[in-house]
Amino acid sequence: PPDISLTAVKAHLTQLQSIATANGGNRAHGRPGYLASVNYIKGQLDAVGYSTVIQSFTYNGATGYNLIADWPGGDPNQVLMTGAHLDSVTAGPGINDNGSGSAAILEVAKAVASTGYQPGKHLRFGWWGAEELGLRGSQFYVNNLPSSERTKIKGYLNFDMVGSPNAGYFVYDGDNSAGTGAGPGPAGSTQIEQVIRAKFTSYGITMDDTDFDGRSDYGPFIAVGIPAGGTFTGAEGTKSSSQASRWGGTAGQAFDVCYHRSCDTTSNINDTALDRNADAIAHAVWTLSEVPPT
Ligand code: PHE
Ligand code: ZN
Ligand code: ZN
Ligand code: ZN
Ligand code: CA
Repeated sequence: PPDISLTAVKAHLTQLQSIATANGGNRAHGRPGYLASVNYIKGQLDAVGYSTVIQSFTYNGATGYNLIADWPGGDPNQVLMTGAHLDSVTAGPGINDNGSGSAAILEVAKAVASTGYQPGKHLRFGWWGAEELGLRGSQFYVNNLPSSERTKIKGYLNFDMVGSPNAGYFVYDGDNSAGTGAGPGPAGSTQIEQVIRAKFTSYGITMDDTDFDGRSDYGPFIAVGIPAGGTFTGAEGTKSSSQASRWGGTAGQAFDVCYHRSCDTTSNINDTALDRNADAIAHAVWTLSEVPPT
C-alpha cells in the first residue's frame, strides 16, 4: 500500500474549514455547508475516475445527502466498502469530527486511482450525511440496499475522528476481547481488527479496544451481518496515565477537548495521529481487497 500524504489530507481539511467559514461556521445536516462539503469531495473523486452518486434522503424536514463512489473493477460480487460521516454538528466546523475521517478516506481513494491498483474486490467509498442526528445517512443507505447488493458487501471500514489532539489509538473491538457486552461483530470483524492492529504494531503502538456498540456509521452495517471495523482517536473520554505513557499526550485530559464545539477547527488536529491513521486505512483497504492466493 502507498504512504498517504499527510500534507494532502490536511489540504482537504483546510478546504472543509473554508466551506464551514463561508457557510455560517458549520457543515451540519440541512445547512448549506453540508452540501458544499459533498460537492467538494465529489469533485475530487470525479476528477480521478470514480463513478459517483449522490443519494438524497429526508430527515427532520431537511434533505440529507450521502455520497457513494465506486472504483471501476474488482469482483463485482465481493465489495469492500470504506466510509466516514461528512456532516458536522451545528456548533462548529467539524474538522476532527469528522473532516479527519472524510479527508483520510478521500486520499486513500485517490491513491487507489494514482497507483493504478487493481484490487481483487470491488472498492466502494461512502461519505454519510446526518450521522450527528443518529446515523441517519448510513442507516438510509443500508435500509435501501437490495438484499442482493447487501450480501455482496464483504466488509465495511469506518473512520470517525482520526486526528484527535490528545490522541488515543483505538480499534473497534470486533472480536469482543474486552468483553464489554456489545458482543462480537459479524464473522470477519475479527480479521478486520487484526489487520488494523498489525499496522499500528508496526508503528510500535499497542491499540486499545473501543466499544463495538454502534456509536458510529458501522452500526447499521453490523446490524445486518456485514463484518466491520475501524479506528478512533477518542472524543470526550479522558486519557489515562497508562495510555499517556504508551501513546504520549496528556493524562487526565480529554482526547478531544473541542469535541462538538466551535473550536473543532484545523487547529484541533494531531498530525502524527492523522498520518498514522491515514496510512493504516490504506493498509487495511489494500490488505482486505487483495486477490486471494490461488
Ligand atoms: N460518532 C461519534 C460522533 O460523531 C464519535 C464516536 C466515534 C464515538 C467512534 C465513539 C466511537 O460524535
Ligand atoms: Zn504517512
Ligand atoms: Zn463523528
Ligand atoms: Zn460527532
Ligand atoms: Ca479486540
